Amino acid sequence: MKRISLVKEAHKLIKDRLQPGGIAIDATVGNGHDTLFLVEQVMPAGKVYGFDIQQAALDSARSKCGQLSDPECLTLIHASHALMAEKIPGQHHGKISVVMFNLGYLPGGDKSIITRTDSTLLALNSASWLLAAGGLITILAYPGHPGGDQEADQVKHWCGQLDTNQFRVSTVYSTEHKDSAPILFMVSKMC
Ligand SMILES: C[S@@+](CC[C@H](N)C(=O)[O-])C[C@H]1O[C@@H](n2cnc3c(N)ncnc32)[C@H](O)[C@@H]1O
Repeated sequence: MKRISLVKEAHKLIKDRLQPGGIAIDATVGNGHDTLFLVEQVMPAGKVYGFDIQQAALDSARSKCGQLSDPECLTLIHASHALMAEKIPGQHHGKISVVMFNLGYLPGGDKSIITRTDSTLLALNSASWLLAAGGLITILAYPGHPGGDQEADQVKHWCGQLDTNQFRVSTVYSTEHKDSAPILFMVSKMC
């Protein structure tokens, strides 16, 4: 069976929702692959905010995005995504087209620095509130590392308690068919 990349799947869906001039948040910048992808969608004149608790991750992302024709379109924030609502300027509240979460640890980095359920759920609450009507949250969860299974379960539970008049949730499972395989949750805001 053909293995699908859930990151590519998330990017495909985001491409439909994010236009030049749009505003997006990368809640977990890491090495900056997703950040650069988001910036490419919103340029010119759009804006991407990126969060990470590791300065090394932000430095790596900044150098990856170094050749941007308009450096103003990217703001990297050295803080937990749990602080998203207070760090994103008020004029952008309710106007965010996409919020992307790629949970877990920094590939090639310290595997003990991982996203934590409590802050992930706080950030998801903020993201759902900051999102524009028609906006999308993608959450790629990895149950295969210690703590990741509980985090993935809690994300699933969070998706399940959303108001169905306001949000639609869909889930893509990996073709690996293992309990440890990644899961992609997509939350669309309807109104
Ligand atoms: C799987 S990596 C992200 C991969 C990234 N999107 C990319 O394209 O390379 C997860 C990242 O989440 C970061 N992280 C962990 N806890 C966080 C938090 N509370 N707020 C923001 N970032 C966090 C880690 O430092 C790590 O860099």
